[in-house]
Amino acid sequence: MRRYSKKDFPTENIRRFLEPGPIVLVSSAYKGETNIMTMGWHMVMEFQPSLVGCIISSANHSFEMIRKSRQCAINIPTEDIAATVVKIGNSSGRDIDKFSEFGLTPTPGTHVRAPLIGECYANFECRLVDVSQVRKYNMFIFEVVKAHVATTPKVPKTIHYRGDGEFMISGATTRKYRKLFRPEML
Ligand SMILES: Cc1cc2nc3c(=O)[nH]c(=O)nc-3n(C[C@H](O)[C@H](O)[C@H](O)COP(=O)(O)O)c2cc1C
Repeated sequence: MRRYSKKDFPTENIRRFLEPGPIVLVSSAYKGETNIMTMGWHMVMEFQPSLVGCIISSANHSFEMIRKSRQCAINIPTEDIAATVVKIGNSSGRDIDKFSEFGLTPTPGTHVRAPLIGECYANFECRLVDVSQVRKYNMFIFEVVKAHVATTPKVPKTIHYRGDGEFMISGATTRKYRKLFRPEML
């Protein structure tokens, strides 16, 4: 086994190693308006109910739309629309209609009014279930109440942000360590 030689690393940048869950697009709707924001800071919190914690800056237009509508959709984009994902994250719904500006298709969900993004590999319809951490951390806790996932490809080429304009694209998958898991840990 290799031992790595290391140097001091700024604590404010450790996110470059912890963050790489997939970048997602959070869509919302409130009073006839729709919006989309790009989000990297999210974490799975529970299997059932299916809970996801999301950090949504109060500076974002999405913040109030989601806080007031108490809903959103978490959409999983893939590499083919990475440029659009960055542009969505570098503009505000205060100034533009991001669905029409970026040619994305709003698709109705079944459980929430927030539109699902047709061009994304997966769409998770979410209800806001816990706002206890919003004031302190801008952290919204959602329950995924319905999930729509593409049937092909089996493993999507998701995009993972490493900070400083650098993305990692998901690559090889392996099942060679599967036999080391206890069944209940799979
Ligand atoms: C790669 C990437 C990741 C981002 N992650 C987050 C995040 O986790 N939380 C957040 O509040 N904003 C995040 N942003 C910034 C928002 O997407 C950005 O402020 C967006 O323009 C807000 O849109 P809105 O004002 O229409 O809501 C990210 C942007 C990019 C490009």
